[in-house]
Amino acid sequence: MNNFSKSNRRDFLRAAAATLALASLPAGAQSVTTGAKLTIGIIGSGNVGSALGTTWAKSGHTVMFSSLDLEKDKALAARVGNNARAGTSRDAAAFGDVLLIAVPYHALPAVGKDLGALLKGKVVIDACNPFAERDGEVGVRAREKGAGLASAEYLPGARIVRAFNAIGAARMGAAWQEPGKVGMPIAGDDAQAIATASALIRDIGYEPVLIGGLAMGRHLQPREPLAGERSAEEIRKIAATLK
Ligand SMILES: NC(=O)c1ccc[n+]([C@@H]2O[C@H](COP(=O)([O-])OP(=O)(O)OC[C@H]3O[C@@H](n4cnc5c(N)ncnc54)[C@H](OP(=O)(O)O)[C@@H]3O)[C@@H](O)[C@H]2O)c1
Repeated sequence: MNNFSKSNRRDFLRAAAATLALASLPAGAQSVTTGAKLTIGIIGSGNVGSALGTTWAKSGHTVMFSSLDLEKDKALAARVGNNARAGTSRDAAAFGDVLLIAVPYHALPAVGKDLGALLKGKVVIDACNPFAERDGEVGVRAREKGAGLASAEYLPGARIVRAFNAIGAARMGAAWQEPGKVGMPIAGDDAQAIATASALIRDIGYEPVLIGGLAMGRHLQPREPLAGERSAEEIRKIAATLK
């Protein structure tokens, strides 16, 4: 049994997450912070998708991993065990109350086309970052437009919250050890989607900090002032200097 599955630790994390969430979310959003367990479709089960999916599964949510390789996702789900399964990306999109999309940015147009109407009204956590050198023309356009607004164009109908963009995947499963110590800058336009994403972010130990609407999502990527692990207070100070 690993440390994470020790019930005292889990109970502490849940209690802390619920308390923090209830203290700062709008009244209409509180139903998602009272320990509700969600289904999460993971679109892209590489470094980021597998780390976050594994951590959410261990915190009691149910995840479905998907990628371009179903056999790999079945093996991943088997390794994670409880609360994890595998499917195609369309299966995962239909399954999830919430989707995490964690694919190379150049794949976002294909993901949007593939998922189509399944995205309508869905809360989508967008961890994807555009890089000209990796993502070619799609990356260049997204950099010009700003990552959040570009993602909204490729994922029509989705209620997007940008998050998890500028911390290393290898650290994503570690924040639960000291809940609230590390802040998570997020950006989005939809209050209910922000509340839902915030609850999931708190459930794995981060303190979400809304830095603004989706247009501000362009600041949430590596090599930007908000990149790296910082306290919520530090994030607020830096965010106040951004336009
Ligand atoms: N790595 C980090 O530390 C980190 C941190 C924050 C944010 N990010 C961003 O998060 C995104 C994912 O990064 P990563 O490091 O996790 O990448 P990765 O390890 O290369 O994983 C990408 C995943 O996307 C899947 N995929 C590719 N095209 C797809 C499509 N059309 N439909 C469904 N799934 C598709 C891949 O499937 P196959 O394996 O089957 O090809 C793979 O599972 C990137 O945009 C990256 O910039 C990365």
